[in-house]
Amino acid sequence: MNVGIFGASGQVGGVMLSLLAERNFPATQVRLFASSKSAGKKLECLGEQITIEDVDGADFTGIDIALFSMGASASLLWAPKVAASGAIVIDNSSAWRMDPEVPLVVAEVNPYELFTIPKGIIANPNCTTMIAMPVIKPLHERAGLKRVTASTYQAVSGAGIKGVAELSGQMQLLGDPSRLTMSGDVVEFKNIEVFPKPIVANVIPLAGELIDDETVEEHKFRDESRKILGLLDLSVSCTCVRVPVFTGHSISLNLEFLHPIEVEEVSSILKQAPGVELSDIPTPLSCTGKDPCFVGRIRKDHGVANGIALFVSGDNLRKGAALNALQIAEILLKEELNRN
Ligand SMILES: NC(=O)c1ccc[n+]([C@@H]2O[C@H](COP(=O)([O-])OP(=O)(O)OC[C@H]3O[C@@H](n4cnc5c(N)ncnc54)[C@H](OP(=O)(O)O)[C@@H]3O)[C@@H](O)[C@H]2O)c1
Repeated sequence: MNVGIFGASGQVGGVMLSLLAERNFPATQVRLFASSKSAGKKLECLGEQITIEDVDGADFTGIDIALFSMGASASLLWAPKVAASGAIVIDNSSAWRMDPEVPLVVAEVNPYELFTIPKGIIANPNCTTMIAMPVIKPLHERAGLKRVTASTYQAVSGAGIKGVAELSGQMQLLGDPSRLTMSGDVVEFKNIEVFPKPIVANVIPLAGELIDDETVEEHKFRDESRKILGLLDLSVSCTCVRVPVFTGHSISLNLEFLHPIEVEEVSSILKQAPGVELSDIPTPLSCTGKDPCFVGRIRKDHGVANGIALFVSGDNLRKGAALNALQIAEILLKEELNRN
């Protein structure tokens, strides 16, 4: 299998390169692509130094699987061209997720959607929805999901390398954090570009731009959850919050079901659920660099009739993007081998 990694110089691209080796991915050839800014630089992949190619002007012939992490506008432009040259594109951006002819897939949850790929493009959900789905799906199968209320705690790396740089820069400016304990505005942050407020020592209840009275991240969570679960009228209420964490998104979930379900049964279902691991206190720090979605604080939601409250943390760069893309590629490869 010839693999192309598009956006190889980025955060998700970097995790993709490590995962190819870690998972012993059977790649015959790996080609790396990014913008002209990174073209010519070399990155190590599977023990070799590979030169990054400029996606603009490249010949894509011979690529079987194209793993895209270049952002939505580059994906809109390049994914159809790469698919037309014969590759299956697995895209991490928001560009194709809600296209009815593009399967939106979480490997453990709805791999059957890979049965038809009309445009040669498969979409990965956004990193917050991704870590919730392996937890929600098996509980829905048992008790019938009626309503989801989600509050997210999203890491700065979810906003790209620029988000990480903004938090790091503000941490350095802050110096001694105790200065903030008496008065919040003793430090004047000049580098506020990616997030609408200082992100260091803060939480920002506005992740992504506002579309109407909700942000783009809140819309994504609702729309993508509905598509993945096949519940087009599912009631979803979501508040997306950016927190000063480098990697690892977390979500507080209140799930209301049609049928009663006890906490013990929820734990027992989730213990066996693929891609899920139980944890007493899931945190972003403890999930960073790990594959599963960690779930804990499982308890009865006393606010509704058949309610369960729980907390999930997952690595946004790994399961939230690179890992899921590779898992999809592995499923496609297995199907291909079965066919031949
Ligand atoms: N970060 C996350 O947690 C996460 C999770 C799920 C999905 N995603 C999605 O994955 C994508 C990448 O995210 P990231 O965090 O890895 O971003 P990033 O660190 O900022 O990296 C972006 C990558 O895309 C390349 N790129 C950008 N514009 C390009 C263009 N016009 N032509 C060619 N290459 C271009 C960059 O190349 P240069 O270095 O040459 O500029 C770089 O390799 C985004 O669509 C994001 O929404 C991210």
